Amino acid sequence: MKRLGVNIDHIATLRNVRSGEHPNPINFAKYAISLGADSITIHLREDRRHIKDNDLKKLSKLKIPLNLEIASNYKMVKIAIRNNPNYVCLVPEKRNELTTEGGLNVIKYYRKIKFIVSKLNSKKIRTCLFINPIIKDVIFSKKINTNCIEIHTGKISNLVKNKKNYTKELRKIKKCAKYANSLGMEVHAGHGMDYKTIKILSKIKEIKEFNIGHFIIGESVSIGLKNVIKKINMFIKK
Ligand code: PXP
Repeated sequence: MKRLGVNIDHIATLRNVRSGEHPNPINFAKYAISLGADSITIHLREDRRHIKDNDLKKLSKLKIPLNLEIASNYKMVKIAIRNNPNYVCLVPEKRNELTTEGGLNVIKYYRKIKFIVSKLNSKKIRTCLFINPIIKDVIFSKKINTNCIEIHTGKISNLVKNKKNYTKELRKIKKCAKYANSLGMEVHAGHGMDYKTIKILSKIKEIKEFNIGHFIIGESVSIGLKNVIKKINMFIKK
């Protein structure tokens, strides 16, 4: 059975613009799980742009499968180990990016990432590396000894959104997913997905987990509008 991880970073983004408690990422996480999400993903960025340390602390105390995304640096790894989430996904981070723009450079940072993965594995935390769909990166991920890889689906998502030919990118993703699976790593996919991309990518049997954030939050705001207007009007138009 394939799993859905819901990334709730942008609930925190929305909360932070008014520095209050609404919308509340903790309640949203519980709600998402009650509605059929299998896990909750949060990215604790070094700049703390959306999710804050206190969110991580509260979420890791709940009985909810928690996937923590962090940059591969020792300070973040210490924080991860202190909070003991079920899963950690290592992602690249650039200060001025709008979102995670590409996969990890598992070749250049091989030693460092391998050390971090072994540290996390020794604490029984499932590890995942966010990589581009490149066979060489799959091979290095295996050498690093990670439990899972997450394939960056940003490129195919953009191609699909812009109605461009995506067959070459899809072929690359399929090839990497099959190869990683044959090497014994679990395969996940994430970034930029919407209904159209998920329809295409969910056909790849080796992909076991999909991590989706921005589209789910954006779509929830749109679909939820009906209920909120109805509720507000109950007070105004009695
Ligand atoms: N997976 C990883 C590793 C990510 O870094 C992100 C973005 O934070 C996502 C999935 C979710 O991407 P999106 O918000 O575009 O659905």
